Amino acid sequence: MPPKRIIIDTDPGIDDALAFLLALASPEIKLEALTTTQGNVTLETATRNALAVLELAKANHIPVVAGSVVPLVQPLRASAHVHGESGIGNSKLPTPKSKPREGHAVDYLIERVLAEPNELGIFPIGPLTNIAMAIRKEPKFAKAVKELVIMGGAVLEHGNVTPQAEFNIYVDPHAAHIVFHSGIPITLIPLDVTHKCLLEQIHIDRLLRIDSPITRFIRSAVETCFAHSESYGGKGCALHDPLTLATVIAPELLTLKELRVDVDHSGGVSMGKTFGDFLGKTGKPANMRVALQARGDDFVELFLQRMETLAKTISV
Ligand code: RIB
Ligand code: CA
Repeated sequence: MPPKRIIIDTDPGIDDALAFLLALASPEIKLEALTTTQGNVTLETATRNALAVLELAKANHIPVVAGSVVPLVQPLRASAHVHGESGIGNSKLPTPKSKPREGHAVDYLIERVLAEPNELGIFPIGPLTNIAMAIRKEPKFAKAVKELVIMGGAVLEHGNVTPQAEFNIYVDPHAAHIVFHSGIPITLIPLDVTHKCLLEQIHIDRLLRIDSPITRFIRSAVETCFAHSESYGGKGCALHDPLTLATVIAPELLTLKELRVDVDHSGGVSMGKTFGDFLGKTGKPANMRVALQARGDDFVELFLQRMETLAKTISV
């Protein structure tokens, strides 16, 4: 089976960075590019961090293309309090030598997808602004994307930025609405399952038995996340973004349900809330597959094994 070719659209972000490392450590995946967006941090910081993490992992041959500076309608927001001023916790990666590709991520996504229809999956793990803009700018885009595997939303789970809403969707609910109704095959990885995949101190201690820039980076990256882990009962750092990759490397760990999911972008108290039509009240068909259960501990173990393998290949 040839590796699945994917582009990750990202707002790195601590868990975004861990997702890059997992993709690079997984032979089932060919990481084609990173496209960046505002979200956890500003676009400038997100782009810098994407370049820096690829350099850490000796993967700076992979293109990074900068995208949206602000959401479609909402004002810009960032969550420095969770991801730290650098955007990747307490990590202090050197200023990257490599530069982002010229041009805008939206045009890059359109160009790549139209050049190879139904070949490329896109994994949005930040706000959906770039994806929505590509859908609106090029009418052929939606039909040519193989699939979207989205980290976002909270269907039966509480929100993490308001009582109702998950961060990625909350930052740009208008973009989410466009994407959810685009007709592109979507798999949604919401907080319902990512809250079950917690990286804890005991796991960091295990990784540090391998002396590598990779393990030292992971430790420093998750420190601020641990500090804010009260929403996970103070236990650890949720592997939100890496879990999207389970759809490729370990689909047996996820239980998916065909479901119609919509998003509130009306501007009220539930702005950004994603809700599933479990009882068929809308009379409309499912628009995505949603992961509602996951074997979280097994995914964390898989993540650790892949990080150990990667760390052994990178000693300086
Ligand atoms: O709610 C979790 C999501 O928001 C993750 O993608 C995290 O990186 C932040 O972007
Ligand atoms: Ca993210």
